[in-house]
Amino acid sequence: MTIKDLMQTMDYGPAPESATEALAWIADRPVIGHFINGRFTAPEGETVEVVNPATDAVLTRVGLGTATEVDAAVQAARAAFPKWAALPGHDRARYLYALARHVQKRERFFSVLETLDNGKTIRESRDIDVPLVARHFYHHAGWAELMADDFPGHTALGVCGQIIPWNFPLLMLAWKVAPALAAGNTVVLKPADLTPLTAYAFAEICAEIGLPPGVLNIVNGDGATGALIAGHEGVAKVAFTGSTEVGRVIRRQIAGSGKKLSLELGGKSPFIVFEDADLDAAVEGVVDAIWFNQGEVCCAGSRLLVQEGIAPRFFDRLRKRMETLRGGDPLDKTMDVGALVSRKQLARINGLLAQAEAEGATLHRAPAQMPAQGAFCAPGFLTGTAPAHTVSQTEIFGPIATTLTFRTPDEAITLANDTRYGLAASVWSQNIDRAIEIAAKVKAGVVWINATNIFDAGAPFGGFRESGYGREGGRAGMREYLTAPARPGKPRPDPAPLSGVAPHAGKADRPSIDVTAKLYIGGKQARADGGQSYTVTGKGGVALGQAALANRKDVRNAVEAAGKAGGWGGVTAHNRAQVLYFLAENLSQRAEEFTAALAACGTPKPAEEVAATLRRAFWYAAQADKFDGTVTATKSNHVTLTVNEPFGTMGLIAPDEAPLLGLMSLILPAIAMGNRVVAVASQSHPLLATRLYQVLETSDIPGGVVNLLTGTRDELAKTLAEHDDVAALWYCGSASGVAMVETASAGNLKPVWTDQGLTRDWLDPAQGQGRDFLHRAVQVKTIWLPYGA
Ligand code: NAI
Ligand code: MG
Repeated sequence: MTIKDLMQTMDYGPAPESATEALAWIADRPVIGHFINGRFTAPEGETVEVVNPATDAVLTRVGLGTATEVDAAVQAARAAFPKWAALPGHDRARYLYALARHVQKRERFFSVLETLDNGKTIRESRDIDVPLVARHFYHHAGWAELMADDFPGHTALGVCGQIIPWNFPLLMLAWKVAPALAAGNTVVLKPADLTPLTAYAFAEICAEIGLPPGVLNIVNGDGATGALIAGHEGVAKVAFTGSTEVGRVIRRQIAGSGKKLSLELGGKSPFIVFEDADLDAAVEGVVDAIWFNQGEVCCAGSRLLVQEGIAPRFFDRLRKRMETLRGGDPLDKTMDVGALVSRKQLARINGLLAQAEAEGATLHRAPAQMPAQGAFCAPGFLTGTAPAHTVSQTEIFGPIATTLTFRTPDEAITLANDTRYGLAASVWSQNIDRAIEIAAKVKAGVVWINATNIFDAGAPFGGFRESGYGREGGRAGMREYLTAPARPGKPRPDPAPLSGVAPHAGKADRPSIDVTAKLYIGGKQARADGGQSYTVTGKGGVALGQAALANRKDVRNAVEAAGKAGGWGGVTAHNRAQVLYFLAENLSQRAEEFTAALAACGTPKPAEEVAATLRRAFWYAAQADKFDGTVTATKSNHVTLTVNEPFGTMGLIAPDEAPLLGLMSLILPAIAMGNRVVAVASQSHPLLATRLYQVLETSDIPGGVVNLLTGTRDELAKTLAEHDDVAALWYCGSASGVAMVETASAGNLKPVWTDQGLTRDWLDPAQGQGRDFLHRAVQVKTIWLPYGA
């Protein structure tokens, strides 16, 4: 045998990481209970097995938290809140710093424990999960320290109910717990019942460092326990990571409760390879995109889009690369692929693969011999998958990518965005113009250029569309756990019921009042589809005129018109500012007319309202080119941009108080940031809006950017909340309407902001204007670019 032969047959010997310490820790804990008010409590309810999915061995048991246990945890968190929130940021920083230090000191133990519980390889738990956990606590120790400087006047929310999945058990805990505690909130966290171990070990660290009792509580359990936490009335915010399906359930469950919600859900993220890509790097990228963590990654690059000319070559190289993947014992340091989280997940994936083959796809599998025992799934990819196939649209959540080819960059974008999701995207090209063009056009919250699946505590992470809303990490992540100073008003009364509903009438039939005001759709005045109008009364019950009564069809027409005005998001911020200044100028020329109209409605301070509207237009015009994203220091060799992107089409439901200023306080920030809007005017005082479109028409606002509807507020709001092409909704109506729109928004999971049905003083800039409105008018896109040495 020559040396060459030897080299070729040379295989890795086994190199197992010792599990002795972790197994001894587990053996001492024959049942995992809860961590409530600083104490470890034995579970009072049912317990279920905790399994090592690589061996099928039962490691221990875990309790399924009951209503009493959840209540005890929430009460403890409530009791701990005032003191924790009132601590100087520096004191909270010291606790977070201690948590980071302790995790770091026990890195090896945590890595092994995670691998035993989840099945992921020790290489990944040791080199990725646990270091990122420590990094997250260090980073947020910093935010605790800087909170008073960086978020002046902002305060914590209260008790946060946090529900996390099993794919990155300790890392997801860190993503949730670190910002919540840094901001001064207290927490009730539920790990996934499949992977409770590292959270429990983390609770032991909390006890060790003397974290005040009740600041962090852990209640174990399954979905039923999760629902108890989300639904508990003592919880002020719910943060969830998991499936889109459960995200929807939670959205509906807590609709109208006033709880803040952030959702980090599934994805079907494109991995786009252009002909001019560095193919070797792109092949390694696929390894990290879809085979990392057995593909159980919400942002996995699970749809490979490959340019036609290189597709056969690229797939060949992938097949070759698969031959070198090693799968098996996750504790073996040489393994690339470990076990899935459970046999149930394996069965789910096998079901989807069988369906793909039945639909005509071909499955290419790594030849690696996988152990017969345990939940092992050989990595692979599918060719011959069409966009309509189930596997092209459904999250497989396993180590199998689908593939499609494309010819042109435009086609790549169309395919990339052909999904309900929008979590992440990875773009491979040596052409910087092309890569950045795709980054701009892809609908995803995170974009990696010539890279994939890199994370950092400073880089906001989260989705567009049905991948959820809210961000984790960095400044944007901190905002999810803070609230701006507010002076809540009184419950907003429902508008008076419509009166005088009748077919459109002209002056001839109704000599006492003006002609019927129309709707404003696509830059044109439009009659209501139903041909109906209603009587608007002012001060002293005097009839002021007729307003058009819009219906669902009118909403759909307005949304369509807004959809066609997409160019608005692409014009320069300077140009948008100019349009807003022009609008202010035109409005100021008609100030007297608007003042008189407001007076006729019976508003208390008509002249002030007009003046405030003018100032507001100037303020948002000024912000149009100044409300910037950031360049964030994350990893070496990268620069991370967080860009504020418009949503697209927004639905705006204006308040009844301040009929002009209230409406404009919603429209101005939305369009300043590049959104198009469908705005529903005050039901009781709609004629201000119909006067407004004469101003819009003369202000160079392109048709379709602002659409104005009048009619039954909550009927129009519901249609907008349900509409798939409306990407975000603001609702200033009544409490029952808040519950209604939040429920209706669960369909396409659009972010909804409401004022909880409370009036506010729109004349006060602290309440009716500000950067918070701008933050709500954009979604953060995080773009990772190669940079530096
Ligand atoms: P899941 O969404 O049911 O579980 C995630 C967490 O939510 C767990 O802690 C679970 O106990 C909890 N939960 C379940 N029902 C709940 C409810 N009604 N109220 C409150 N909490 C609830 O996900 P599952 O069933 O484990 O996995 C199914 C699929 O979901 C996966 O195959 C994958 O496609 C997707 N998924 C996506 C994740 C992501 O990171 N985006 C993570 C986990 C799963
Ligand atoms: Mg397990």
